[in-house]
Amino acid sequence: MSTQVQSAVLQVLEDRHSVKQYQAGHKMPQADLEQLLTSTSQAPSSWNLQHWKLVVIDDQAQKEKLLPIAYGQKQIAESSVVIAVLGDLEANKNAELVFGPAVEAGHMPKEVKDSLVAQIENVYQYPQVARDEAIRNASLAAMQLMIAAKAMGYDTCPMGGYDAAKFVEAFNVPARYLPVMLITVGLAATPARAAGRLSLDQITVSNTF
Ligand SMILES: Cc1cc2nc3c(=O)[nH]c(=O)nc-3n(C[C@H](O)[C@H](O)[C@H](O)COP(=O)(O)O)c2cc1C
Repeated sequence: MSTQVQSAVLQVLEDRHSVKQYQAGHKMPQADLEQLLTSTSQAPSSWNLQHWKLVVIDDQAQKEKLLPIAYGQKQIAESSVVIAVLGDLEANKNAELVFGPAVEAGHMPKEVKDSLVAQIENVYQYPQVARDEAIRNASLAAMQLMIAAKAMGYDTCPMGGYDAAKFVEAFNVPARYLPVMLITVGLAATPARAAGRLSLDQITVSNTF
């Protein structure tokens, strides 16, 4: 990676902050939305099962429907698009979709696929593991989305402040998916409020507790 690219990436990480006021009425071009979703989909995941489903809410009426579910936080209505990041509680069902083409293309021996599928099915007997995996992996996609958006000139705000049960009901979310967070994406009208960070001493432990 060139020094230029390296410092551009670090700058994006430093510049990303949660923006709560957007240029209302802005419509994200379809090409930008597709780029954003494609970059998000490149996030890593356990066994590459891609434990996420992204509900793209860009219709103003749907955003208005979501507004009271998110306790009236107005960035919901003013952002260009809200992306509800859901975790897949049955991501084991993606194994065939993910590994099948790899075997077909000769990139993965069938025995490797069979062994991975057996490992996955074994682990997915346990609902707590399925839930942990759904949240862990969907959260990685969420972070990737926010970084990609910033690199593209957009701002975001991750949101846990909403009624997940009401969201499930209002947006017909099947039982397979667990709401993980909402992310507003749009053009900032007002910069994010400064949010400090704990020091490295406070957040790290050297080698072992
Ligand atoms: C899981 C999660 C849930 C959050 N929920 C909300 C929310 O409901 N409303 C809001 O305004 N900000 C929300 N935030 C934004 C945080 O307040 C913000 O990320 C934090 O203060 C750090 O600031 P920064 O993102 O600007 O660096 C949430 C952040 C995360 C990661």
